[in-house]
Amino acid sequence: MTGAPAVGVVGAGYVGLTTAACLAHLGHRVVCVEADARKARRLRDGEVPISEPGLTELVRAGLAAATLSFTTEVRRLRRAGIVFLCLPTPMGADGDADLGALEAELVTLSGVLARECVLVTKSTVPVGTARRAARMLARPDVRLVSNPEFLREGHAVRDFLRPSRIVIGAEDAGAAERVAALYAGVDAPVLRTDPASAELAKYASNAFLAVKLSYMNELAELCERLGADITEVGRVMGLDARIGTAFLAPGPGWGGSCLPKDTRALLRSAPESGGALSVVRAAVLANEAQRERILGKVCRAVTGRPDGSLAGLRIGVLGLTFKAGTDDLRHSPALAIAHGLAERGATVTGYDPEVAATEAARLAPVQVADDPYLVGKDAAGIVLLTEWPQFRELDWARLAATTERALVVDTRNLLDTDRLARAGFAQVRLGGKAPRPAD
Ligand code: UDX
Repeated sequence: MTGAPAVGVVGAGYVGLTTAACLAHLGHRVVCVEADARKARRLRDGEVPISEPGLTELVRAGLAAATLSFTTEVRRLRRAGIVFLCLPTPMGADGDADLGALEAELVTLSGVLARECVLVTKSTVPVGTARRAARMLARPDVRLVSNPEFLREGHAVRDFLRPSRIVIGAEDAGAAERVAALYAGVDAPVLRTDPASAELAKYASNAFLAVKLSYMNELAELCERLGADITEVGRVMGLDARIGTAFLAPGPGWGGSCLPKDTRALLRSAPESGGALSVVRAAVLANEAQRERILGKVCRAVTGRPDGSLAGLRIGVLGLTFKAGTDDLRHSPALAIAHGLAERGATVTGYDPEVAATEAARLAPVQVADDPYLVGKDAAGIVLLTEWPQFRELDWARLAATTERALVVDTRNLLDTDRLARAGFAQVRLGGKAPRPAD
């Protein structure tokens, strides 16, 4: 690559790598700094460590065109005009976002960044971080901008190149313009605002999604008690444009690397007393209860009692990742429920198209099969936890032949009821019509 990099990206995780590859695709010269030497080396060879549609192609195209490069050396950013901080902000023990990695990087960057550089925070950071970072950086010539990402796993490239909105929070209009110019090729509304509002908007969006999902999960429970059907209820709700059709599907609970972390961090940033953000607090509690609710539902289906013991029984699990389209197991409700079934005494065998049997040691006591048909073997029940579409197409009659009892608890309402019935399977859905005896 010739000339100075126009853009630097610090961190080649899921957000950083997507940002670097997409900005290179948009025609910028990008240098991406990754501290992990092995990861940086693999990326230089075009090997992308995460499963994200289209990302490998973009990385390889950027490498081939020499518009994208990877390095371990922060000093390679010394001539960059704009630098994106894409470092992890994991949930600390107290629920606060852990800004250790970000703060350490600021110290290094302070001595590296070019004069008048714009430093952009893309990671989800607590409100006020842009302002605090400016103080820590101690470089009055460098402007801080907040440009939060809204990337969904499994759709990250698409969400970057075709976002619903681009948010730019800056005190300095010139710095905001320079960041906005990077997105010139992207067709989306650009919202310019102050850094604190940009930072809060990210948390507010994710917390709203969490509230919506917890509401649907609780409604599903109510449907079961009242003999209504959550799918029908959701259809009616979704046609109201003010509500929208997305995020209305009940499930085993919301998880992943963002929603659990961001709801807790938002709650931590609200005043401790006075019930501030009580709606978000309730959504978190409802999500924790959802795991127990699903465990009770499986136990009731298998043993007749919600608190029945599963000792001596085999349970098969379909899906371990937190949602379909990703290999991510972080804060996966599916995995938590699989472990919960094992805690209740069951021998649990799980299958997930993105989880290799070689991971088994890490997921113990849950056993991992490399073939979906193995989860049915001698099983007293199968629990579907992740909405992988290929589970619909399984040969359910073949599965039925291997089970002790052809029963499936479908926590995503994914499977075709008639098809299951023809295969001899009894299906327990979430928020389904079937009336059930009181607990
Ligand atoms: C989320 C946000 O959507 C994204 O904007 C942000 O940048 C990162 O966090 P992601 O973590 O990839 O993205 O997952 P998402 O697709 O939002 O799903 C979150 C959880 O909700 C998953 O556990 C999923 O299974 C669950 N979900 C989603 C439902 O249970 N029902 C639905 O209808 C939709």
